[in-house]
Amino acid sequence: MSMNFSGQVALVTGAANGIGRATALAFAAEGLKVVVSDVDTAGGEGTVQLIRDTGGEACFIRCDVTRDAEVKALMEGTLAAYGRLDYAFNNAGIEIEKGKLAEGSEAEFDAIMGVNVKGVWLCMKHQIPLMLAQGGGAIVNTASVAGLGAAPKMSIYAASKHAVIGLTKSAAVEYAKKKLRVNAVCPAVIDTDMFRRAHEADPKKAEFAAAMHPVGRIGKVEEIAAAVLYLCNDAAGFTTGHALAVDGGATAI
Ligand SMILES: NC(=O)c1ccc[n+]([C@@H]2O[C@H](COP(=O)([O-])OP(=O)(O)OC[C@H]3O[C@@H](n4cnc5c(N)ncnc54)[C@H](O)[C@@H]3O)[C@@H](O)[C@H]2O)c1
Repeated sequence: MSMNFSGQVALVTGAANGIGRATALAFAAEGLKVVVSDVDTAGGEGTVQLIRDTGGEACFIRCDVTRDAEVKALMEGTLAAYGRLDYAFNNAGIEIEKGKLAEGSEAEFDAIMGVNVKGVWLCMKHQIPLMLAQGGGAIVNTASVAGLGAAPKMSIYAASKHAVIGLTKSAAVEYAKKKLRVNAVCPAVIDTDMFRRAHEADPKKAEFAAAMHPVGRIGKVEEIAAAVLYLCNDAAGFTTGHALAVDGGATAI
């Protein structure tokens, strides 16, 4: 399948590490100019360097997705750098819970909802007018299999990812006639720092994580990047408002 993205511009949040970095690299490999964004400046600049090392074009714009003014400035910076925005991957997210629902704190709730829900909402709020003004575009938001069902000891995270799917579906329907598609990608356990932080203290948890996927392993960042590029591409032109599980069969059980 030819992706034919050349000359276009993609923005990736949470692009300093993990799934976001891999997706920024994948966009660049397809010839897109990439705006790499994150709160982690060193990691974000590292992603830009990796893209430039392979002959691609990218720039870093620091942005905390929980801050309206910073998200607005990110879109203005994207236009200043590359003149347009064709694709946005709203991927920045956190997971900090340590226990069951009744053990959670208000601070955890506000932090998780702030990045995972408000961040995605603010990004779409500022991206959609740009895309409408230029005649269309595509947005992919990072949800999770925790947005499709229960996630024990991650109840706030699960609520946040269900909310991402709600935002995605609503925006998709609102703008469906405007050549603007909005979808979500729902990874199961993927080999990133987020996964390693959660499991390094207990190797048994890593074994459990592999076993929960019928394919018998956790996922790779490149496997999520490939799904995001497909959802952005014209090949997915009839797909909007969809929450695509990329999960080694985990939600099929
Ligand atoms: N790794 C998994 O198993 C997994 C599974 C399902 C969904 N996800 C989701 O995938 C996305 C990426 O996760 P990852 O595994 O690559 O994690 P990661 O921790 O490697 O990357 C997340 C990135 O988001 C950035 N970030 C955090 N808060 C931010 C903020 N306020 N503003 C801007 N950037 C911010 C971090 O600096 C980091 O670079 C997240 O939304 C996560 O919830 C991950």
